[in-house]
Amino acid sequence: MRISFCQYQKGMRQTELQVIRDLNVTVHAGEMVAIVGSSGSGKSLLAHGILGILPYNAFMKGEIQYCGETLTEKRIRKLRGKEIVLVPQSTSYLDPLMKVGQQICKGKKNPEKKRKLNRIFEQYSLDQKVQEQYPFELSGGMTRRIMISTALIETPKLVIADEPTPGLDPRLARRAMEHFRQLADMGAAVLMITHDLELALDTADRIQVFYAGYTIEDAIAEDFLKEETLRHPYTRALWRAMPKNGFHYIDGVQPYTRDMKPGCPFAPRCEKCTDRCREKEVPWRSSGNGYVRCVYDT
Ligand SMILES: Nc1ncnc2c1ncn2[C@@H]1O[C@H](COP(=O)(O)OP(=O)(O)O)[C@@H](O)[C@H]1O
Ligand SMILES: [Mg+2]
Repeated sequence: MRISFCQYQKGMRQTELQVIRDLNVTVHAGEMVAIVGSSGSGKSLLAHGILGILPYNAFMKGEIQYCGETLTEKRIRKLRGKEIVLVPQSTSYLDPLMKVGQQICKGKKNPEKKRKLNRIFEQYSLDQKVQEQYPFELSGGMTRRIMISTALIETPKLVIADEPTPGLDPRLARRAMEHFRQLADMGAAVLMITHDLELALDTADRIQVFYAGYTIEDAIAEDFLKEETLRHPYTRALWRAMPKNGFHYIDGVQPYTRDMKPGCPFAPRCEKCTDRCREKEVPWRSSGNGYVRCVYDT
């Protein structure tokens, strides 16, 4: 997948800003895949691209296959909110004029839905009275829990959760991750976008690492048990940055999309970088039980 934005600069000069350069993401039924990557690496755009809700000036190239068939605009319109659900990153996606209970049940309050809703509220320590409240009456943490409930009330086939846990205390964040895990165990495919690598490793089957609009590694959770089984130098840096592995950080920042040079986007920060890394696009290739975008076998 590639996504670019059409922008106007000085007068009417039109430029194309390419922000997602090459994403390769797969999630199977019954599997929970975590997507990690620094802010601005393209995680939310991926989610919006799949759901067909990109801004009007965004253009997407590439292909999305869903259950073996191309996910066209017409098809996603039918599946969105039913078979394919999103827990958005921004809390502004809630309807400010609708009571939260109604909102979660999408207006349909049959007894079975109502029972399920009551149970979810209990699990998330939400008072049942909150169902009758409007979004503006809720705290940030409550809003998060309401947004997660909208996904859990359905029986979706594909769940995309875009950083659903910030603002939740560690106990509730873990509970939310475990609920998404349960959805996968019940047969759904779950794409979990998160900042919390440690929590992701406890719950997800596979981890996909994004960097500056590229997928740079796809690894099974077990590969994170030690540094040597990871493939990309950036993934190894993420591993070393985990508190239990020494909290080491690496210098530099992810390049801004307008300043990207040809070749590997991580080259300026990589200790293994040679001329080969700066020449041309690095292909996405299979390696062991995963995938990597690096010219070297680490
Ligand atoms: N409407 C937009 N116009 C121009 N650039 C955008 C727009 N939305 C997002 N971007 C850019 O796309 C990149 C990826 O954004 P996003 O997917 O939100 O990142 P993430 O969710 O990984 O933090 C960022 O560099 C951001 O600045
Ligand atoms: Mg985001």
